[in-house]
Amino acid sequence: MCGIIGYIGKEDSLPILIKGLKALEYRGYDSAGVVVLVDNKFEISKSVGQVKELEKLLKNKKSLNSHIGIGHTRWATHGAPSKSNSHPHYDCLNRVFVVHNGIIENYKELKRYLKKNGHKFKSETDTEIIPHLIESFLKKGKDFETALFYTLELIKGTYALAVIDVNNPEILYAAKLSSPLVIGVGNNENFLASDSSALIGRTKNVIYLNDGEIAKISKKNISIYNLKKKKIPLEIVSLEWNLEQAQKGDFPHFMLKEIFEGPEVVRSTYQGRINTKDGSVKLGGLEKVFDKLKKVKRILILACGTSYYAGLVGEYLFEEIAKIPTEVHFASEFRYRDKPFEKGTVVIAISQSGETADTLAALQKAKDNRLMTLGIVNTVGSTISRETIAGVYNHAGPEIGVASTKAFLSQITVLILMTMYLSTDKKLLKIISKELEKIPEKIEKILKQSKKIEKLAEKYKNYENFLFLGRRYNYPVALEGALKLKEVSYIHSEGYCAGEMKHGPIAMISPDFPTMAIVPQNGISKKMFSNLEEIKARKGPIFAIATEGDKEISSLANDVFFIPKTIELLEPLLTIIPLQLFAYYIGIKRGYDVDKPRNLAKSVTVE
Ligand code: AGP
Repeated sequence: MCGIIGYIGKEDSLPILIKGLKALEYRGYDSAGVVVLVDNKFEISKSVGQVKELEKLLKNKKSLNSHIGIGHTRWATHGAPSKSNSHPHYDCLNRVFVVHNGIIENYKELKRYLKKNGHKFKSETDTEIIPHLIESFLKKGKDFETALFYTLELIKGTYALAVIDVNNPEILYAAKLSSPLVIGVGNNENFLASDSSALIGRTKNVIYLNDGEIAKISKKNISIYNLKKKKIPLEIVSLEWNLEQAQKGDFPHFMLKEIFEGPEVVRSTYQGRINTKDGSVKLGGLEKVFDKLKKVKRILILACGTSYYAGLVGEYLFEEIAKIPTEVHFASEFRYRDKPFEKGTVVIAISQSGETADTLAALQKAKDNRLMTLGIVNTVGSTISRETIAGVYNHAGPEIGVASTKAFLSQITVLILMTMYLSTDKKLLKIISKELEKIPEKIEKILKQSKKIEKLAEKYKNYENFLFLGRRYNYPVALEGALKLKEVSYIHSEGYCAGEMKHGPIAMISPDFPTMAIVPQNGISKKMFSNLEEIKARKGPIFAIATEGDKEISSLANDVFFIPKTIELLEPLLTIIPLQLFAYYIGIKRGYDVDKPRNLAKSVTVE
């Protein structure tokens, strides 16, 4: 999962490439590099670490004022993070330069063939075979474009590529197969990027490349071809996100900014979609499949990570409110599972980025089995939104922090809306819609007490283990809370449904192993109390998330954070907030970069 960027135009490309790479850094940040062309000469710079290291390197170099260049920020797959393994990669003639996001599966045999034919490799990467393959066809007298097309025919796997030819500095080439790639259409300049967040502030007009497409981009023109060299008409769409949305504003980190966007995100997810007078819901993106949806026999939710946990809340909602049997599957398991499908099964793929490879592959499996496929996606125009026949956009705005926070809230809100869309219990729908409208305010009330969480994080920051417990709708919240703490503080934290604790996890309980208990007042809280009794009896510290006015919890828990009351099915929209803040503050207090946690990346575009 890397970020690639390209520019051709009237301005100096270097500052534009660096700025773009910074916006894409959440995709991978273990090394970076750029190459620019000036007067048929190339200037390449690479460094290990975040883009700011590359920027330091370039600071000492005088500006070349080059009008064409490509860049890359890496998340290593083949070859450890190092200068030689960072991109761009190039051929023996120093003529062809390539940056790549994806994996070339047949690179070993191609590398053996190229080595036998005298090519010298400088890296351990799969990517480096591409410039050498192009070179091998050039040496056979093919023109550059033919050499590029032949190379694309040969390589197997996934790729988003940006390619430049020193002998042809007026053209930027791009190609896509599975990994995301978008062209930014400018005035007398054009851009390439792994996703549109890198283009915000430069252009609002973009072209999303489809699988198997190759783009030829000059300062003034853009042409797109398929692998058969047939010209493809351009489809320019307008971006809805603005620069401010993609910047930190007054917050020290994107993660905290995005947690504090919670109220606005829930509001913008349901706004214009619910009618609180009668609780009816309008989801334009599902209208064309509404009749079929009404006859749905079973719902299969496919997702990964945080999106999977949102799906688990969806399972409770669809089964208990819409009375539709529902299963949630880890996409990475589902794609290799030999599962019988019953007629009337509808698949919902949930993804913030819309580019997660496992979810895409699971989706393809569902399509191969002729199942109706819907998407709940945040990134407009992303592959999953285009590979599903209908769906609902989250409208949560760009999520930059690698640890997903506001997208989780928006995904649950969309699942609540879809449940209401498929339910007939008018009385209940009215109650839900009225209560849902109060949620943003209740989240604001929680966020106003963030300092309390910060203080408690100071108390708990040195524990190396944490257990998160919840029941029913708050079980997925326990899983997500544990994931957040893992992601940004690297603490071993496990989420469990509280009833499961006595079947094993209770063995871990000790004064050194605190429990985060999600125990709002609802029909199941008494059961949670007995679980907490079991932990207290074994001197396990307890931090409880409870409902304002709950008089009993303080006698059981060492620390309590109170949240406003709401109906059980909406509780995850409130109980998750203190857990997101807790993970954030502990990550900060342990001195970690919470926006770019180690070993992670925002969208996992390889298997
Ligand atoms: C969550 O904080 C992580 N970034 C990760 O688990 C993420 O949820 C997962 O990779 C799925 O991503 P998606 O929603 O973009 O498909």
